Amino acid sequence: MKIVALVGSTRKDSLNLSLVNTLQVRYGEKVKISIANIAELPFYNQDDENNPGEVVTKFKEEIANSDGVLIATPEYNWTIPGVLKNALDWISRVDKVLVGKPVMIVGVSAGQVGTLRAQLHLRQILASPGLSANVLPAAGNEVLVNFGPSKFKDGLLIDESTLNFIDGVFERFIDWAKK
Ligand code: FNR
Repeated sequence: MKIVALVGSTRKDSLNLSLVNTLQVRYGEKVKISIANIAELPFYNQDDENNPGEVVTKFKEEIANSDGVLIATPEYNWTIPGVLKNALDWISRVDKVLVGKPVMIVGVSAGQVGTLRAQLHLRQILASPGLSANVLPAAGNEVLVNFGPSKFKDGLLIDESTLNFIDGVFERFIDWAKK
């Protein structure tokens, strides 16, 4: 099973990247999780959407060829970062490669609500006609990692109760993606 991850933070020591790296290590025998380089995408421009160039075309192919998409979003000013919105805008157009695709959302923030506001916005965006993703239902599956800096060490999530919770969510996601 092939999962493509979109990480909404481009910084080297990103906790959201560290979370995806943790999942790559933890579930590596079951699924292959590759990280799409959304930072190299140009700004979306409708003038270019029918002939967008190689970087965008390759990104769309990665999504189209995957069995599911994992989105790790930070919260920037109560919503998702622009780099993630830009990636979603590209894939919402022309071939609409996210339509019907299984999606799991996770997020790490420094604050108390662990990207809740960003994730609510993200669910709304993913429900739009051009995206129409098949998002894992929120009930029991909200991976909201709060107070992030205290839960990671050496680039990996080390908080046991959070890891145990994510194990259950990830298993449900894999079942969901197989259906
Ligand atoms: C933040 N941060 C933040 N945290 C939060 O809980 N709610 C918010 O609205 C914001 N807003 C915000 C805006 C901007 C521009 C930055 C740079 C940061 C803090 C954020 O949670 C923290 O920096 C995370 O560690 C960012 O995720 P990565 O980069 O570690 O993956």
